[in-house]
Amino acid sequence: RDLPPTRVWGYNGLFPGPTFHVFRGQPIRVLWRSALPEKHFLPIDTTVHGADHGAPEVRTVVHLHGGVTPDTSDGYPEAWFTPGFQQVGRYFTNAVYEYPNDQAATNLWYHDHAMGITRLNIYAGLAGMYIVHDEEEQSLWLPDGEFDIPLVLQDRSFRADGSLYYPAEPTPPVEGVDPSVLPDFFGKTNLVNGKVWPYLEVEPRKYRFRILNGANARFYGLSLSNDLPFLQIGTDQGLLEHPVPVTNLLLAPAERADVVIDFSSSAGEEIVMRNGAASPFPQGKLPNPKTTGVVMQFRVKKHLSSPDHSNVPHNLSTYHVMNPVQSNNERNLLLSMRPDEYGRSIHLLNDQLWTDPITEMPRLGDVEIWSLVNVSNATHPIHLHLVKFQILDRQPFDAEVYENEGRIVPTGKRMKPALNEQGWKDTVRANPKEITRIIMKFEPYAGLFVWHCHILEHEDYEMMRPYVVV
Ligand code: C2O
Ligand code: CU
Ligand code: CU
Repeated sequence: RDLPPTRVWGYNGLFPGPTFHVFRGQPIRVLWRSALPEKHFLPIDTTVHGADHGAPEVRTVVHLHGGVTPDTSDGYPEAWFTPGFQQVGRYFTNAVYEYPNDQAATNLWYHDHAMGITRLNIYAGLAGMYIVHDEEEQSLWLPDGEFDIPLVLQDRSFRADGSLYYPAEPTPPVEGVDPSVLPDFFGKTNLVNGKVWPYLEVEPRKYRFRILNGANARFYGLSLSNDLPFLQIGTDQGLLEHPVPVTNLLLAPAERADVVIDFSSSAGEEIVMRNGAASPFPQGKLPNPKTTGVVMQFRVKKHLSSPDHSNVPHNLSTYHVMNPVQSNNERNLLLSMRPDEYGRSIHLLNDQLWTDPITEMPRLGDVEIWSLVNVSNATHPIHLHLVKFQILDRQPFDAEVYENEGRIVPTGKRMKPALNEQGWKDTVRANPKEITRIIMKFEPYAGLFVWHCHILEHEDYEMMRPYVVV
């Protein structure tokens, strides 16, 4: 059936934006400019929300997620701009951004990061993939060319006329209340690379898929209907040491998984990629197996067009395991939620607002351990700009003692991350009633960055904080 067209925003006319392919050590420059209209087509009220009182309704700034980028090119939330750079935010530096690409091969993504409206701008379409290649990866003979495919997973809701729907609450609107501040948003339909429930014709051979969860708030728990495993070869920040077979691949918003699927034993089959993750995660509703439980379909052809010479070697990469004794400083950081004066959920880092004074000021070159203490009921995917980190462990604490006395008393053992979470990450799932410890070195740039929850509704209200490398 013919569906009506849907208005979206994009980069260079594309939704998702065009995929960048860059090579390690070869810097690029990008002139980001805006041709967006003056009015948003999603519900918004800038008079109320966030730090940017009086900012124009439509503004944007681009952040390269996972990129090791100097702060002047990092897309600070208050470095937004409008068409023709007529108006710019208070941290605007330059329109031409430089990406050094001095980092290991991996899958990054770029997306809007404008203060207070990121959830609406990304929902409207402002996101795309950015792939870093290097020699190490190219020496492995992984599937490539037409057998190497990025998959951007998102969820959206549509009105009967085909237009994008983002809820406005309360309905009818209340004066002085931003109509699109929600605890989280879950669409009724999954999209892959901008298409609703698509299929892909594949040959009976190995494929590499670079999977990004680009949703606002939905977690994806991916599996294949014939129980074929995903052979995970990379995380957010590069190749794993060894491939890890996973049958249920959990990805929070902004997390990426580099996987190989071997269809060679599935000739002629139709395989459904399913989603089994609850929303909100982990205690919310399970997806409907007919709608949000379906992501896409693989139609495996009967024959190969040419022999499959690709390979997934046992040794993919090596990385330095960070040792907690190296750390110069440890911080306890609280992840919490409380109702605001209108009864809406406000999510907080360390009980502070965006506009509160900066409290995280690591020194350049220092190694720090951050203990993310999650006293809320939801898993928060916590992301830091600039740095890559390793997950040390997760440890439960006594929720009742916290409720009654406000104290954090660890109960169980410190649990090592799963095999496919070892290696380098830039976004980590901090589960409710757990302390998640990560370790990282603050380098190679000093400057002003941010850290935040990557559930976009949380990030916008108020689960984002500036931090400075001094
Ligand atoms: Cu993907 Cu600060 O963001
Ligand atoms: Cu980022
Ligand atoms: Cu969150």
